[in-house]
Amino acid sequence: MLKGKKIVLGVTGSIAAYKAALLVRLLVKEGAEVQVVMTPAAKEFITPLTLSTLSGRPVLSEFFNSDSGAWNSHVELGLWADAMIVAPATASTLGKMAAGIADNMLVTTYLSMKAPVFIAPAMDLDMYAHPSTVCNIDTLKGYGNRVIEATAGELASHLSGKGRMEEPENIVKVLKDFFLAGSELCGKRVLITAGPTYEKIDPVRFIGNYSSGKMGFAIAEECARRGADVKLVAGPVSLPTPHPAIERIDVESAREMCDAATSLFPSCDAAVLCAAVADYRPSVQATRKIKRTADGMTIELEANPDIAATLGKAKREGQCMAGFALETNDGEENARQKLQKKNLDFIVLNSLEDKGAGFACDTNKVTIIDKDGKSEYPLKSKKSVAKDVVDYLVKYMLLMMLFLVPATASADGEEMNARVVLNASKIQGTNTEVFTLLQDALGEFVNNRKWTGNTYEENERIACTFNFVVNSYKDDGSFDCSLMVQAMRPVYGSSYNSILFKYEDPSIKFSYQPYDRLEFVEDNLDNNLTAVIAFYVYTIIGMDLDSMGELGGSEFLNKALTIANNAQNLGDAGWRAGSGNNNRFSIIDDYMNGAMEPVRKLMYMYHRQGLDTMFGNADGGRKAITEGIMLLKKAYEDRPMAYFTKLFTEYKVDEIVNVYSKCTPEEKKEVVKILTEINPSLSSEWDKITKNNN
Ligand code: CTP
Repeated sequence: MLKGKKIVLGVTGSIAAYKAALLVRLLVKEGAEVQVVMTPAAKEFITPLTLSTLSGRPVLSEFFNSDSGAWNSHVELGLWADAMIVAPATASTLGKMAAGIADNMLVTTYLSMKAPVFIAPAMDLDMYAHPSTVCNIDTLKGYGNRVIEATAGELASHLSGKGRMEEPENIVKVLKDFFLAGSELCGKRVLITAGPTYEKIDPVRFIGNYSSGKMGFAIAEECARRGADVKLVAGPVSLPTPHPAIERIDVESAREMCDAATSLFPSCDAAVLCAAVADYRPSVQATRKIKRTADGMTIELEANPDIAATLGKAKREGQCMAGFALETNDGEENARQKLQKKNLDFIVLNSLEDKGAGFACDTNKVTIIDKDGKSEYPLKSKKSVAKDVVDYLVKYMLLMMLFLVPATASADGEEMNARVVLNASKIQGTNTEVFTLLQDALGEFVNNRKWTGNTYEENERIACTFNFVVNSYKDDGSFDCSLMVQAMRPVYGSSYNSILFKYEDPSIKFSYQPYDRLEFVEDNLDNNLTAVIAFYVYTIIGMDLDSMGELGGSEFLNKALTIANNAQNLGDAGWRAGSGNNNRFSIIDDYMNGAMEPVRKLMYMYHRQGLDTMFGNADGGRKAITEGIMLLKKAYEDRPMAYFTKLFTEYKVDEIVNVYSKCTPEEKKEVVKILTEINPSLSSEWDKITKNNN
């Protein structure tokens, strides 16, 4: 995930600066290019020589090179980087970043940074808890920066408390997750309308509104950053196009906007309608400037087309559409009416009654409403709101995709409703036919094969996605791909789905020529691609059956384990026993290890007893899930190195936070303690359980 990524690492004067050396080493090992920028104080803690040797690039610290007098351009760095990390970030640097005090190279680089910024603070516990530090961190978060919270432990002062910089391994993990999320919309086309429309009265006057377009542009940027091909239909605004992957179509009036949007929508996967479209236009537009007279004047208006409603009528299955509602009164009720009337999937409500929300400002406070409920968000920068809206969009699109019956579904296989997507956008200048053929062949392979002797009802099938990204391809047919595999289960009695398994496989090497038949022969593994797919299919089916009845999936999980054992000689590192604790081999090896039996039982307690019960009996469901989490703890204690325990907390994080937001303080305390111990890198997520009070 970090291969080829350009990272600026800002190091400041904290005792934790020594950890920057390990951080550089880990990033370089992942294939990233690292440019270190140090504050003068940081050099008191670690030498530039150490960091330049590890990164293979001279460290920057001064505005000018003292020998040549050349200017070190923070502007260029800001454009070069894919991400910036400030680690460790001292209280002083946090303050300077929050206030924009650009008196060193690091803060100037930060202020010029076009890429996302991650901040990992480190300081003494009292400094960390001081209201001014808390306020600076909140300000930085509000600007859209991502703060990797400090952890608790022994500090340089020998006091113990919260203030230790997160471990470099976990910082790398956060970055990897971020870049992984960065490809969520790869291959998707998103239409966005933004800004006001102007309706001409005469050549010099118009009817318009105060919309600045900032919210829509921020959403367009966020979608583009996550890999979408964005079509931005913009009314008259004075904003630059924020990302190179955005195609911008400038329009002026509602009718022009409507024409552009309706012609683009059929080829799009989603639309987010942010424009403040003028509802009326003058019935007559004077061709010459209207002259002032002593009398008053009346302008007759006629209705403009409702773009959202027009697209809503044309919306086909699988397309997702979101709108905005800006209301001065009865916000929720009005928004719900618009949701229904315009056939939207969700609507983002902002109320002019809220201070800091609306047209003129850089902040917004929104509530996202869909047919099942609502989520309220605090006042944030428009960029952060854009992130929340796009997160919502991504989840919605994923669910839609999962429950669309794939075109390749066949008569034979009935276990899976799998969707295979092959994203080859990284590979240029090659005949693209091979990628399309492979995608289709894989879709057929997963869906047509009968993997079990069991019979599944249509609505019982496991919804899963196999999302391949081609990292390299040669004309001889050799591929190197990463794969995100995710499986979902419907929760009975609800419209809710629960993630059953989710894992990102960093590298699968295989060879494929157009029209090759994809085959999998259990006793004769000679094709790495089909072996990998079969492995995941059996793992997913096995885990699904584990969640239906205690240890119910053994038959298929053992098949997956056999594949992992027999594939050792296929020359793929993902199968290798003993080469790290988070490859394909160790996942299944852990999962089937006797010490992990509690985790297998957890699948049942959590899904069947917990989530399924929850819809009729919230307390009962939560009790079962809590028992499940105790089982997770037991497995963690018996086999602390097992990656699966951690993986489980990762893909369930949103769900767990949601489930426990409504429980008793005692339950919260107990569960948060266990989860923090198993996965400290998500401590800020677990903290939300304690903070949430709904
Ligand atoms: N919208 C649109 N075309 C219009 C009016 C609105 O596409 N002619 C879209 C907006 O982009 C927004 C949603 O519909 O996503 C709601 O816009 P809003 O102005 O709040 O709704 P109206 O239907 O115009 O209702 P009213 O002005 O009466 O509140």
